[in-house]
Amino acid sequence: LYQQVQTLNTDLEKQVQDRTAELQQKVQELQQLNILKDDFLSTVSHELRTPLSNMKMAIHMLKVFPVSERGQEYLNILDTECKREINLITDLLDLQRLEGGTELASTDVIDLASWLPTIIDPFKSRAKEREQTLKVKTPKKLPQIVSNNNSLSRILAELLNNACKYTQDGGEIKFIVECNQKKSSKKNLVESSFSIKFMISNPSEIPASELPKIFNKFYRVPNADPWKQGGTGLGLALVKKLVEQLNGNILVTSSNGWTTFTVEMPV
Ligand SMILES: Nc1ncnc2c1ncn2[C@@H]1O[C@H](COP(=O)(O)OP(=O)(O)O)[C@@H](O)[C@H]1O
Ligand SMILES: [Mg+2]
Repeated sequence: LYQQVQTLNTDLEKQVQDRTAELQQKVQELQQLNILKDDFLSTVSHELRTPLSNMKMAIHMLKVFPVSERGQEYLNILDTECKREINLITDLLDLQRLEGGTELASTDVIDLASWLPTIIDPFKSRAKEREQTLKVKTPKKLPQIVSNNNSLSRILAELLNNACKYTQDGGEIKFIVECNQKKSSKKNLVESSFSIKFMISNPSEIPASELPKIFNKFYRVPNADPWKQGGTGLGLALVKKLVEQLNGNILVTSSNGWTTFTVEMPV
């Protein structure tokens, strides 16, 4: 019996080894396919962007000439659609670049007190268009932080954009900034680190089952855009990558009819 068990055991081990080798082979194939897909996507995106930029220029030139009212209307449609397409392709290329993960963000000193209004003010007027209000709450004294200006603006603008988009007319959107000092003691040393939290809340709930998916590329919650605001599902995927690139954290919670995105950044 002992011998039988031992043969069985070796058989099983051999089978496991074979299967593992098979799986490793499959994983390698898939990884290669993934690289091919990424290359394809970025080549195609580049190729698509060039003619679009030329089209945009041509539209711009046409707008200078007097055209009929109808003509002007069509030109405006062309202009909007062109911009939308360029934005989509730019998002795709940015994501592709960030997924490469090799690039380090350059650092800027950002004076939050003067910088924040340049991000928030455009959304105040945008909110007004749908009779929404944007409430801002920040500490009296805002610090200077070291971060990447472009990435941080993009993150906050994308989140504010979503908050406006996914809120009914007349709703209230909240933007809250908090500065925190964390003290941690290691042996006899007391270290303190500063972090800054940006919280953006809006009156709209995302079902718990959807929450893990919203950061996926191209994912949009089904039937969650009754106001027909449109989107590509790339915004949050980009935000997540940008936050990671800046060594920050992003968290989303949704309950009691409210959704809150919290971005925490080291200072
Ligand atoms: N602030 C928010 N409130 C409610 N739902 C949101 C909010 N932000 C994102 N979502 C949901 O997550 C999905 C993915 O967001 P995003 O990646 O920005 O794509 P897009 O806005 O282009 O649809 C949205 O389609 C929406 O359903
Ligand atoms: Mg979005």
